[in-house]
Amino acid sequence: MYNVRLANQDDIAKIVKIYLESFHGMNKVEEVEKWIRLKYIGYPANRYYVIEDNEVRGYILWIELGGFRKDAVIELEQIAIEKMYQGKGLGSRLIKESLKDVKRELESRGSNLKLIKVTTGTSNEAQRLYKKVLNAKPVAIIPHFFRGDEVIMIARSNELNLP
Ligand SMILES: CC(C)(COP(=O)(O)OP(=O)(O)OC[C@H]1O[C@@H](n2cnc3c(N)ncnc32)[C@H](O)[C@@H]1OP(=O)(O)O)[C@@H](O)C(=O)NCCC(=O)NCCS
Repeated sequence: MYNVRLANQDDIAKIVKIYLESFHGMNKVEEVEKWIRLKYIGYPANRYYVIEDNEVRGYILWIELGGFRKDAVIELEQIAIEKMYQGKGLGSRLIKESLKDVKRELESRGSNLKLIKVTTGTSNEAQRLYKKVLNAKPVAIIPHFFRGDEVIMIARSNELNLP
């Protein structure tokens, strides 16, 4: 019933809406839209995917770090699920299915995924999600990063427990 696909231009307004209810870094619609559009046009270095039923319910942004490398390093830069739809497995599914597609794209250009970096607030429950879905492990804590301390987590490709 839920479908995961690459985002297109028409999804930007909904991504902005979900951003605004999920994050506090920016609160002006125009500013959020500008940031998301800039990320969006960075494809394929940046890849937005959405999860939808009859409407978009969440998004994820993957970013390739350090160039189009043979041993690719990617970052899970941002993920959010619409509030009413959280806790139903959508976030996990979005990560797994979008990552499968990212890996396919990397392989089609002759690269392999080396590792995934993801950072989140030290008090954000999302750490459990990243551990569970990606087998990501905390490697460092950066004090006073965004609003508070941020933990850097790394998932190595050979330790991913994806199907
Ligand atoms: C983080 C987020 C994307 C998770 O999506 P979700 O659809 O709610 O996650 P799932 O239902 O797939 O849950 C997967 C696991 O996440 C963990 N989890 C549970 N509640 C959570 C919560 N409120 N926030 C994050 N992770 C949670 C659990 O380990 C859960 O597994 P379990 O149900 O087997 O215990 C979603 O809660 C969200 O949009 N949060 C606000 C934005 C945010 O904080 N994004 C991450 C910033 S780095």
